[in-house]
Amino acid sequence: MLKKSVRDLTDSDLRGKRALVRVDFNVPLDDARQVTDDTRIVAALPTLEYLAGHGARIVLLSHLGRPKGGPDPRYSLAPVAARLAERTQRPVRFHATSADASALAATRSLGDGEILLLENTRFHAGDETNDDALSKAFAALGDLYVNDAFGSAHRAHASTAGVAAFLKPAVAGLLMERELDYLGRAIAEPKRPFIAILGGAKVSGKIDVIEALLPKVDGLLVGGAMACTFFKAMSLETGTSLVEPDRVELATVLLERAGYRLTLPHDATVSPSMDNPGAAHAVKRDAIPPDEAMFDIGPETLKSYERAILSAKTILWNGPMGVFEKPPFDAGTLGIAHAMATATRAGATTIVGGGDSAAAVAAAGLDQSMSHVSTGGGASLEFLEGKSLPGVAALDNK
Ligand code: 3PG
Repeated sequence: MLKKSVRDLTDSDLRGKRALVRVDFNVPLDDARQVTDDTRIVAALPTLEYLAGHGARIVLLSHLGRPKGGPDPRYSLAPVAARLAERTQRPVRFHATSADASALAATRSLGDGEILLLENTRFHAGDETNDDALSKAFAALGDLYVNDAFGSAHRAHASTAGVAAFLKPAVAGLLMERELDYLGRAIAEPKRPFIAILGGAKVSGKIDVIEALLPKVDGLLVGGAMACTFFKAMSLETGTSLVEPDRVELATVLLERAGYRLTLPHDATVSPSMDNPGAAHAVKRDAIPPDEAMFDIGPETLKSYERAILSAKTILWNGPMGVFEKPPFDAGTLGIAHAMATATRAGATTIVGGGDSAAAVAAAGLDQSMSHVSTGGGASLEFLEGKSLPGVAALDNK
């Protein structure tokens, strides 16, 4: 890791100091505004414990959802403060603004080891535009800056990047460090064989990552509806499956360039409709009926993907194999998750990119059975694509 982390700071750098910590508490809430998945809150605890253990006064910044640049109670972080208080044994205060004199006064009233969560940074339009004045106002809230929001590291916003120019030291938190370490090592020095499994509905969102991974992996296994765009490129019947017609030509090029390293499903679980799971059946990939659609990889494909997983030493997975929210179209995704868990037990390094595949692994109760489950969806994809993450680039070099 080329960037400094909290572990590079001394006790006196932290004790009694206000640590301004950008976390990614962009978590799902239900209609009653209760947090339905607190994975990202739990993932930030090691950094908070570390800082509190060194006597720092913790000031937390986060966004939640996509409010339109002004206060909107639907996107308040108040329910998140309540969940954080349950998860940590430390006092947690919530303050209903994030960049004014009252927020500043709140940071100054903190005791050592106390935690203050400020309101949604996106209640200021200047967060997403990376406005200098807002970055300075955020910078005034701390004596040092810690970015632990890996999930937002691909955003060049005032709270994730701009603030680091006005507040030093600016270092990575433990979650950020762990994410960069796992994803970085997988790409730079994977134990081989190294395979990647990519799924999801659309090939358009995965083109850059396919191109970036192809020269690095020993095999790239494709699942999800995006396989159908490749089927189309092979002139196969895809029925009513989701196909991106404007990406078929690109899929043809990718297939030619990838050669034997890119594997497509051999069979598919199809049905006349996603809402008709009772009619689901498996067909060879060249026998998709014209009036049916692919909603999952088929059982033969799952078996061969499982074999590939069990013979690999590094496995990177991003994107579900099918409509995993709707049984029986979850079989492929669950099968991959279980095979990855078995591979982890056998000593392989298994990494799940964030977003839907992380949600599927958590729903299967297997999140503890992977070497690493990323908290970043878009961020992990951009990292794997080889792009620089502004939230990381802004931090102090070692
Ligand atoms: C995410 O959930 O991917 C991050 O929190 C970033 O959120 P955003 O896509 O609204 O910037």
